[in-house]
Amino acid sequence: MIQIRSETPQDIAAIHAVNAASFPQEDEANLVDELRKQGALTVSLVAERERQIVGHIAFSPMTIEGADSHFKAVGLAPVAVLPEYQRQGIGIKLVTAGIDACRDLGFDLMFLLGHTEYYPRFGFVPAVPLGYQSIYTPGEGDHPYFMVLPLQQEIKMQGGSVYYHPAFESLG
Ligand SMILES: CC(C)(COP(=O)(O)OP(=O)(O)OC[C@H]1O[C@@H](n2cnc3c(N)ncnc32)[C@H](O)[C@@H]1OP(=O)(O)O)[C@@H](O)C(=O)NCCC(=O)NCCS
Repeated sequence: MIQIRSETPQDIAAIHAVNAASFPQEDEANLVDELRKQGALTVSLVAERERQIVGHIAFSPMTIEGADSHFKAVGLAPVAVLPEYQRQGIGIKLVTAGIDACRDLGFDLMFLLGHTEYYPRFGFVPAVPLGYQSIYTPGEGDHPYFMVLPLQQEIKMQGGSVYYHPAFESLG
């Protein structure tokens, strides 16, 4: 039985371990610690199975410059499930619960950089054709892995330059 819940201070070491074990490098684990230190972990959820943390997802505030600067935006990153528990639906549970939590907090738009086959199921669509740019989408091209999801009804997306929290600059 998998339970999705918000992180508590007792989970911090296990969250670091889950991210370190799920990604090839420790950057994502360090990023989560840095976001927490800077008060920028808007939403941080764990997947718990028999009292073990087997998955984690983090969301942090973003800023938009340009037409959509009035929107409250949040970034999904990172999401991780321990290798031995992947492909059992835990990632889907984490993303779904995270979207609901950010919507409840009043965010308008959610952005992410991710697998183009994985995220459309949640409603994410490529952001560049909608007029959004980021430092991760240089030059021409659709950069389909940079995606956006409107979280509220009647969001009219007009585009803009989208910035992750400064803690992301520590990413290697
Ligand atoms: C990406 C990740 C969080 C997905 O979690 P998960 O619990 O394995 O995924 P789920 O079981 O909920 O989702 C299963 C579905 O996603 C698909 N899927 C899982 N990992 C995928 C990947 N890396 N690329 C494409 N599709 C993937 C599966 O094929 C499956 O689709 P289907 O049901 O249509 O067959 C997990 O694989 C992971 O931690 N990977 C390493 C870290 C990472 O890359 N994180 C994402 C970047 S921030």
